[in-house]
Amino acid sequence: MTQADASETSTSGCETLLIVDDEAAIRQLLHRKLSREGYRCEEAGSAEQALDRLAANSTSLVILDIKMPGKSGIELLPEIKMGHPDTAVIMATAVTEVSVAIQCLKQGADDYICKPFNLEEVVLGVQRALEKRHLQLKIREYQQYLEEKVEEQTGEIRKLFLGAIEALVCALEAKDRYTGGHSRRVTETALALGDELDLSADDMEDLRWGSLLHDVGKIAIDQLIQNKPGRLTQEEYEHIMIHAHVGAGIVQPVVNERVVEMIEHHHDHYDGSGLHQVIAGREIPLAARILAVADAFDAMTSDRPYRPAMPREEAVNEIKRCMMTQFDPAVAEAFLRIMSRKSESLDLVGFGT
Ligand SMILES: [Fe+2]
Repeated sequence: MTQADASETSTSGCETLLIVDDEAAIRQLLHRKLSREGYRCEEAGSAEQALDRLAANSTSLVILDIKMPGKSGIELLPEIKMGHPDTAVIMATAVTEVSVAIQCLKQGADDYICKPFNLEEVVLGVQRALEKRHLQLKIREYQQYLEEKVEEQTGEIRKLFLGAIEALVCALEAKDRYTGGHSRRVTETALALGDELDLSADDMEDLRWGSLLHDVGKIAIDQLIQNKPGRLTQEEYEHIMIHAHVGAGIVQPVVNERVVEMIEHHHDHYDGSGLHQVIAGREIPLAARILAVADAFDAMTSDRPYRPAMPREEAVNEIKRCMMTQFDPAVAEAFLRIMSRKSESLDLVGFGT
């Protein structure tokens, strides 16, 4: 049973009907008959009263007189359907106005009954309309359930796929003695920066995935070039740098656009001087600007085939020196704040370990 059903049948265990007619005698006639059938009945003598009642109580069904002084039933019908789409509406009409009632069916009314009323037919009409309504509510409930299930399973599949890509990144790093654990450390630093910059929970989640997966594109990089002990030629450097674009393409089917852009732009320089760079400054997504600092710091403080690890203080100074050029000053300053808060003697998780 839905919440709407529960409140409509709350006190007496029966459904609530609203009888809308300007003639009190007709309202009372229907009220008496339908109450005897076990329905909880309310009355409204005008369209305005009807809207007030509908706003105050959840109503299963409205019996709506077509001809009323002021706003007619025809005019009221779309308002009821708009504001209370789960409420069934039966139009009450004189036999001579059946064509109008049929027109109302096209505008969303569930049925019509003719005056003078055959009360047994009225009861049957009410039962039919309520059954149809219950069926529609059940179908919608089931659709919602199915949609939730699909969403849940899509989330599971996505999680599994992301986990598999993460495992691939770890495997890639594990076979290379220079990059082992790089993505995990970069992620920890990036998240500390995100926290310092007050990122929202959603942005932090994007930052986490983007950081973990940022170098997955290195699968396309020639190992001999990646592990070359000497200085890279321009051509070799350009080859290595395609990993950002390749990585963005690998994760694109399973992550949102923000994570894709973060990976695509993680080597962009703030001043636009990076290789083949098309955007600069604050046009570079903030997550990519954060990742750039975290990535550079870990790279500098790790051994590389062509140089030993740089001492942490020196790497911090390098980040400071490259503020405004390579790095976003706001991100670099956040990084320096974090570093200055950490005592040298503490084990700084994720900071050059
Ligand atoms: Fe990278």
